[in-house]
Amino acid sequence: MFSELLPAGAVEARVILEESIVFWRGQDGIAYAIEDRCPHRWAPLSIGKQVGADRIRCKYHGLEFDGTGHCVHNPHGKGRIPESETLRSYPVHEYCGIIWLWMGWEEPNLALLPDLSNYLPDSPHHVAKPGWIAIDVPFELMIDNVLDLSHVALVHEGVLGNEESLAGETSFEQRGVDSVAAYRFTRNIPAPEYFDLIYKADGRKLDIWNNVSWKAPTHLMLEVGCTDVGGQRSDGTEILAHHVLTPVTKTSCMYHYLGAQCNAPSRSAEQMDAVAKRLGELRKLAFFEQDGPIVAAQFKVIQRNGEFRPLPLPGIDQAAVLWRRLYKRILKQEQARHPLQNVPAATAVA
Ligand code: FES
Ligand SMILES: [Fe+2]
Repeated sequence: MFSELLPAGAVEARVILEESIVFWRGQDGIAYAIEDRCPHRWAPLSIGKQVGADRIRCKYHGLEFDGTGHCVHNPHGKGRIPESETLRSYPVHEYCGIIWLWMGWEEPNLALLPDLSNYLPDSPHHVAKPGWIAIDVPFELMIDNVLDLSHVALVHEGVLGNEESLAGETSFEQRGVDSVAAYRFTRNIPAPEYFDLIYKADGRKLDIWNNVSWKAPTHLMLEVGCTDVGGQRSDGTEILAHHVLTPVTKTSCMYHYLGAQCNAPSRSAEQMDAVAKRLGELRKLAFFEQDGPIVAAQFKVIQRNGEFRPLPLPGIDQAAVLWRRLYKRILKQEQARHPLQNVPAATAVA
């Protein structure tokens, strides 16, 4: 969750990995996250309110809880604290304007967080406003979608690709045991609107690259850019986009994205505003009218058939095949270490 969604005193409900979680930020400025279930009559704590420096109060009968999941105040009777189970609490860490939550059963490992320094306001790049959307498809299908660079030509025709970009060549790379990358380069094609806008906005043909990498469990890094036909990549411009998928349930997820542009062309403030506005529209179009409907339709077919047995195409599908294989292996290892826990994986999710 983006930190800005949780100002001091705010309470937010989220479902992550099928678990109902209440977040709040105390007057002490710290974000807390515990199970969203009052042990008294099981009212969700998320309809309660933040009280004191660091507590949340149940709206039904007023029990108060701290960030460790302990009941710390009972307004009834003689104020005796009821003996009850401690609610599950989740370690929280804020980094780069994002509240990161540790869902695993081992000690939190902050080294798993991706490097987001390029997206901080003091970055040398032109940083765009971050955003997120809720999507009613499993996160796995969204990872397939983003890792599959070949869909850009037809699904995002005119916006990010076109018929000519079908000719692009893709190469793949496995990085260690938990990461996969795909690289695609397309030469001398009519400029799709997005690339035209981020570069010279002159309608001329371009060389375009789309690179993407997945790092377990759900981090995707995109580097998409363009330059003059035959030109150096360093003379062109590039968008670095970081996408984080948070599984909500088995069939839904939250999609968070942050982007920054390197080597942005110099423009007047007015031009920059106009370009940023149009890029925002194109991003929405790509998500809601292009990727969204096709992945949702694909998911319906998968549900109807009960099992997903795709037919991988040579030259374009290696990344989608490989990330699932690595992810399955990581899950298996995780489940072997924690046989009693019914969780898909110890993951750092946003
Ligand atoms: S349900 Fe929460 S105090 Fe009663
Ligand atoms: Fe797409």
